[in-house]
Amino acid sequence: MSVDVNAGSPGEAGVTEPPPPVAGSEPAGGHAGPARLSALVDTAVQAIATGTAERGGPAPAREPCALAEQVRDTMGEALPELGTGAEEALSCLTRMLAAGSVDPSDPACAAHLHCPPLAVAVAADLVSATLNPSLDSWDQAPAATTVETEVVAALAELAGYRPERAAGVLTGGGTESNLMGLGLARDAALRERAGVGPAYEGVSGPSCRMRVFCSAAAHFSVQRNAALLGLGEASVTAVPVDDRHRMDTAALCRALRRCEDAPAVIVATAGTTDLGAIDPLPEVAELANEHGAWLHTDAAYGGGALLSEGLAPLLDGIALSDSIALDLHKLGWQPIAAGVFLAGEGYAMEPLARRVAYLNPTDDELAGYDGLLGRSLRTTRRADAFKIAVTMRALGRRGLGELVDRCHALARYIATQIASHPALELAADPALTTVVFRYRAFGNSDRVNAALRRRLLRRGRAVVGRTELSGEVWLKLTLLHPGAARSDADALLNEIVIAGTEEDG
Ligand SMILES: Cc1ncc(COP(=O)(O)O)c(C=O)c1O
Repeated sequence: MSVDVNAGSPGEAGVTEPPPPVAGSEPAGGHAGPARLSALVDTAVQAIATGTAERGGPAPAREPCALAEQVRDTMGEALPELGTGAEEALSCLTRMLAAGSVDPSDPACAAHLHCPPLAVAVAADLVSATLNPSLDSWDQAPAATTVETEVVAALAELAGYRPERAAGVLTGGGTESNLMGLGLARDAALRERAGVGPAYEGVSGPSCRMRVFCSAAAHFSVQRNAALLGLGEASVTAVPVDDRHRMDTAALCRALRRCEDAPAVIVATAGTTDLGAIDPLPEVAELANEHGAWLHTDAAYGGGALLSEGLAPLLDGIALSDSIALDLHKLGWQPIAAGVFLAGEGYAMEPLARRVAYLNPTDDELAGYDGLLGRSLRTTRRADAFKIAVTMRALGRRGLGELVDRCHALARYIATQIASHPALELAADPALTTVVFRYRAFGNSDRVNAALRRRLLRRGRAVVGRTELSGEVWLKLTLLHPGAARSDADALLNEIVIAGTEEDG
C-alpha cells in the first residue's frame, strides 16, 4: 500500500496549523519514541529472521550479478515519489538485506576479521542510534562524553598505560587509528624540530621528511596513510619478517641506521591480518627509544588478546608504544564501528585540538561544559563507546577473555586437523585466531584454491578467506565465533575438501 506523504498543501504552511506529520517520520526518542521504536524493532527483527531463513546458510547462494539484480528488483526506485511507509520499507528491505548478507554469526562464515556482534552490543548500539549523542560537544553528549572517557581510560589501563596520563578516542577502525598514530608522530617530530615543549603551539606548515618503518606483513593502511599525510608511500620501509612472520629486529636496526637524518616512526603490528603474528614489541620499543623514533603499535586485531589472561603476555611491551590502535569490532564482538586510538601521553593528542565558536567556546569549557572535539579527526561522532561500555559491564574482562580463548582454542584445533589431513596443508601454527592453509591440488594450486573458495561462496556453503604467501594463493579461516563447536569446524573443513576435489577434478 502506498501512503501519500505529501498530505497538506505547502501553500498553507505557516499560515494555519502545520500539516500532520509525514507518515514514517516519527522520532525514535522522546516520550513517545520508545513505543513506536519497539514496534519497528519487532518488524525489523522478524524480517531479519525471515531473510536469514531464506538465505539458509552463511552466504547468499547467488552469483554476484544475480544477487545485485535481486537487490535492485526489491529496491525498485531508491527514492520513489511517494513513500511506502515505515513498516513496509523496513520489513521489505531488511528481509532482502538479511537474505543477501554473509552472516558472521554462522560458524561457516570465517573469512575476515568480521565478527559476530553480541546481541547485548547490538541492543546498546540501538540505544546510541536512538539518543544520537554526538561527541564533538558536551551539549550534544552530556553523559556519553564521560562514558567515552571512562571506556578509553579502562582500555588504556588494559594496555598497560597509566590512565591518568593517557588519552584516546573512539575511531572508525584500525585504518583511522593508524592514521592518527602516523599523523601525531609526524606532529611530534615537527614540534621537536621547532623546539617547542609538550604544549603544541604555533607549529604548522613545514612538511616533515619522516621515515616510516613497519614489517612487510603490516596492514596496507600504513602505506596509504603515509600517502594521505603527504609523506609519500616511498617513505615507508617494509622491514623483512622472520620465520614466524614477525618484524626482524636486526633488519629494523639496519634500516633505522641508514636513515638517521630524518625523524622516524615505527609501526609495530600486534596481530597481523593473515597470520596473527605479533612483532617482538619489547625489542622494537628498545630500538625506537635508541633512535628517538615514535612507536605506534597496530593492535587492531591482536589487541583483543589483552582480554585473555593466557594470551595477554603475547603483547608484553605494548605499553612502551607512544600510541596504539585497538579494534573492538574484531576480537571484541562489537558491531562496526568500534575502533580505539590510545596515546600513552595525552599531550601527544594536542595537535588535534581546535577552538570552535559553535562547539567549545572557552567560557563553556571553563564552566565544565567540555566535549571531546579535540581528540578526534572527526567532528560529528557517534557514541560507539556506549556499546563497548555495556558489553564490558555485561561480560567483564573474564567473560570477554573467555571468548578470546575459545576462538584461539578453535583455531588451534583446526590447525591440528589440517596438519593431519592428507588433502590439506597448514602454513603455520596459529598465533591468535586465524589459520592459513591450502588444499593440496594435483592441478594448479593457485587456481584450485582460488576457485574452490568462490565455489563455496557461490553455493552459499561457506565464506573462507584468501591471501597470498610468497606470491602463492592460500586460504584463511578467521575464527571469531566464540560459540562455534569443533563439529562446526570439522564440517567447514569437509566442505572445503569437497569443493577442492570438485575444482581439482
Ligand atoms: C592489523 C590490522 N590493522 C588495521 C586494520 C584496519 O582496520 P579497519 O578495517 O577497522 O580500518 C586491519 C583490518 O583487518 C588489520 O588487520
